[in-house]
Amino acid sequence: MAAIFFPKEHPPGEKRVAATPDTVKKLVKEGHSVSVQTGAGEGAFYADREYVEAGALLEPEPQKGWGTADIVVQLNVPMASQISQMKQGASVVSFLWAFDNLEIVKLLAERKISAFAMDAVPRTTRAQKDDALTSQASLAGYKAVILAALHLAKIFPMQMTAAGTIRPAKVVIIGAGVAGLQAIATAKRLGAIVEVSDVRPEVKEQVQSLGATYIEVKSDESLTAVGGYAKEQSEEFKRKQAEVLRAHLIAADAIITTALIPYRPAPKLIAADVVQAMRPGSVIVDLAAQRGGNCELTESGKTVVKHGITIVGELELANTVAVHASDQYAKNVQNVLSDATKKGVFGWDLSDDIVGGGKTKDGQAYPGALITHNGEVLHPKVREALKLPPLATPAPVEPPKTEAPASAAPVAPKS
Ligand code: NAI
Repeated sequence: MAAIFFPKEHPPGEKRVAATPDTVKKLVKEGHSVSVQTGAGEGAFYADREYVEAGALLEPEPQKGWGTADIVVQLNVPMASQISQMKQGASVVSFLWAFDNLEIVKLLAERKISAFAMDAVPRTTRAQKDDALTSQASLAGYKAVILAALHLAKIFPMQMTAAGTIRPAKVVIIGAGVAGLQAIATAKRLGAIVEVSDVRPEVKEQVQSLGATYIEVKSDESLTAVGGYAKEQSEEFKRKQAEVLRAHLIAADAIITTALIPYRPAPKLIAADVVQAMRPGSVIVDLAAQRGGNCELTESGKTVVKHGITIVGELELANTVAVHASDQYAKNVQNVLSDATKKGVFGWDLSDDIVGGGKTKDGQAYPGALITHNGEVLHPKVREALKLPPLATPAPVEPPKTEAPASAAPVAPKS
């Protein structure tokens, strides 16, 4: 049995919560004692009473919650002041973004806290139930299209009326990963004509199965990296892609951009002069705003109008649908905790590839989500970033069962 604490999230404005009454009930049933900070569920409309009915204790003092728990579970990166309150040997489960928070990682290791980073869960089939990047990105992809529709002074579907025919809106989606595929499905449901660009060749089929048109950039380069992510492209490819995309972007009513490359700033795919050439009244929703944006004129965290084009650079769109975002995140973390609980006893199993890393079928090593443990930084690339020598025995050598990363394509909408 472990004492699990769910704090009220920071920063102010964060509406999501890492526990729902349903997930609390499951954890209590597994033998854990669960406490929830008073008011933690407010933003997602879960009342304190519902958590108590599910078996949780209410904790009005966050310091006490952080200081006494065996496991603290939240969504946002823990702050240094919170980590300092934790017991040695306790665990934290949350997003961590280790490469952007190296000082926090150092502190976690110094304090001998085990940190399970929800953003570092491997993209394998078995780990899909734990994959919070996917659950949150999928909601963001949906909301991006809704925001585009809201700002556009046109409707998305075709309408034939006595007063004439309204042509369907043309939507271009750049980046068909989790968020992009959900954006395609949502825009199609709303009746738009959808065109899509990506750099990973395997995406073409997924895009077409959702009823969208794939904008092809012919290339001999290999553009997919380990784990199914995109690689940084050559200058020659970038030039070719910009040339091919230009006409599609200028003709679009709405553009949704989601293009990201791990550990790199977001690639700039919409130049300022392309925005200038677009039809006034058109909209760009830039989901890559957090990493600098895919559009040169995006302002991170803001919605601005430039050359008559509304450019939405709002961050954390999943937070704007806090009920479903919380439900999904809470289920993700509950799955992580339940997998780490055997017969009521909680403990991290480093031979589990989701926790300690593993190898793909073709022998490529990938790290697990447990970033720090027993005073050590486990993640090899984070160690490199911290200028730490490689661990003597990288953990683990051979994982039990590892499947190749699978596609996260949503189901095609029925029209
Ligand atoms: P992401 O957020 O890192 O990137 C979004 C998309 O942008 C990707 O499709 C990427 O190829 C594309 N992109 C990058 N540079 C671009 C450029 N210059 N132009 C156009 N597009 C560009 O990706 P996300 O959504 O995290 O998915 C990454 C991979 O992981 C995908 O293959 C996805 O299918 C896979 N995945 C597997 C899961 C599983 O098996 N458990 C779960 C979720 C995702």
